Amino acid sequence: MSTKTSTRTKVERPPGPRQHWLFGNLREFSRDRLGALTRWQRQYGDLVWARFGPRSILFLNHPDLVEEVLVAQNRKFIKHYRLRGARRTLGKGLLTSEGDFWRTQRKLAQPAFHRDRIAAYADVMVQYTERMLVSWKDGQTRDVQADMMRLTLEIVARTLFAAEIGSDSAGASAAMETLMHTWMKQLGRLIPVPAWVPTPSNLLYERAARRLDEIILTIIAQRRRSGEDRGDLLSMLLHAQDEESGRRMTDDQLRDEAMTLFMAGHETTANTLAWVWFLLANHPKSEAMLHAELNAVLGDRPPTIADLPRLKYTGLVVTEALRIYPTVWMVGRENIEPVELGGYTIPAGTTIFMPQWTIHRDPRWFDEPESFRPERWALGLQEQIHRYAYFPFGGGPRICIGNNFALMESALLLATIARRFRLRLAPDAVVTPLPSMTLRPAHGVKVVVTQRR
Ligand code: HEM
Repeated sequence: MSTKTSTRTKVERPPGPRQHWLFGNLREFSRDRLGALTRWQRQYGDLVWARFGPRSILFLNHPDLVEEVLVAQNRKFIKHYRLRGARRTLGKGLLTSEGDFWRTQRKLAQPAFHRDRIAAYADVMVQYTERMLVSWKDGQTRDVQADMMRLTLEIVARTLFAAEIGSDSAGASAAMETLMHTWMKQLGRLIPVPAWVPTPSNLLYERAARRLDEIILTIIAQRRRSGEDRGDLLSMLLHAQDEESGRRMTDDQLRDEAMTLFMAGHETTANTLAWVWFLLANHPKSEAMLHAELNAVLGDRPPTIADLPRLKYTGLVVTEALRIYPTVWMVGRENIEPVELGGYTIPAGTTIFMPQWTIHRDPRWFDEPESFRPERWALGLQEQIHRYAYFPFGGGPRICIGNNFALMESALLLATIARRFRLRLAPDAVVTPLPSMTLRPAHGVKVVVTQRR
């Protein structure tokens, strides 16, 4: 190793934007998160050093570096402070727990997401979508993002917890929105307001969290009372026993896992579909190709899981939407010991963000990265590019447990709806990306739905 490199490894930090003495780069980031990510990547490259108040922040914009963190050196990292902040609601669920506890819980939950198992959920997905479409009227204006939120929440409740939340779904969706909104506000603060201070925002948060607790604890209590094994995720978790102690999960543990799966399992897919509708409405040629495929494969019947291998273009639309509007727009970690990344020694306790937003739109990996072109994936692009040039579901041991569930659900919902309706943006629709906990359209996606003949 040359002297120059070894000196650099010891003292230098990666380049990055100038820092305000108190806020660091927090204000610039909070004002325009996506813009800041893009600007800093262009200006400073693959490693960008920044500071949010007292926290050192490192952004990684290269797939090799993402692979280092998520896979090769994953044991040196834990989830980052923003997710730890969500523990107030998610407790020690799969998304936020660590170490042996996480490993045990993941092993318990994994069978519910096995390919054969999720295949059994396909009928519910299509059935619930058809049920929603009964209320859609030709020429009606709707917020399709809100529709997708309610639908995906009902699907996750039914498939994983065998629960019908029908009339509760709108209230539960709204409560989840309040929680996510509050988390994001906290991220922009130099010093987070403690949960016990009765600010209007904390009070709203508490009310929303209580509402969700009520729904989830009722589902758990009903199942405990009936003692029934319905073969769904909830039954698996209820009946799982620790091999050594023989102990079963407490209601609190069950609640944390259920809350996590409700949250992680519906908002992400709903927003992916909201972006799909927005993109299709703006790309009539892609929409026409989708319709042609649906006509050819389905004719006048709804899809089943057996159709998915032939609904190729439908799948590519979802893949491309997840590239251009990745609903998880960055994943984050914190290193628990110093790590070597890209020739730098990164001190322990640094928050490391890996933005799908910049990597998915990098011209080094994608031609015309800003264009929506589902066909770019048709000839095996996924196998040709770096594994971490496209990583909407993360990677390594903490990869999304619901990735196959989400892809199947997105394709089936898209096919079921697009077979019957065409969605056009309403004349007054304003669609802008809001990078909250997930990347969502800031004001929903207002569309006019017309029946396809
Ligand atoms: C398009 C939809 C989805 C996207 C883009 C997505 C994305 C992600 C990403 C990027 C992660 C990794 C986070 C990290 O490494 O810090 C993750 C984790 C997770 N996702 Fe998803 N997800 C989606 C749908 C789902 C669904 C449908 C479920 C469940 C039904 C789900 C449940 C989870 C859980 C429990 C974790 C934590 C896994 C663990 O750490 O063991 N997700 N998701």
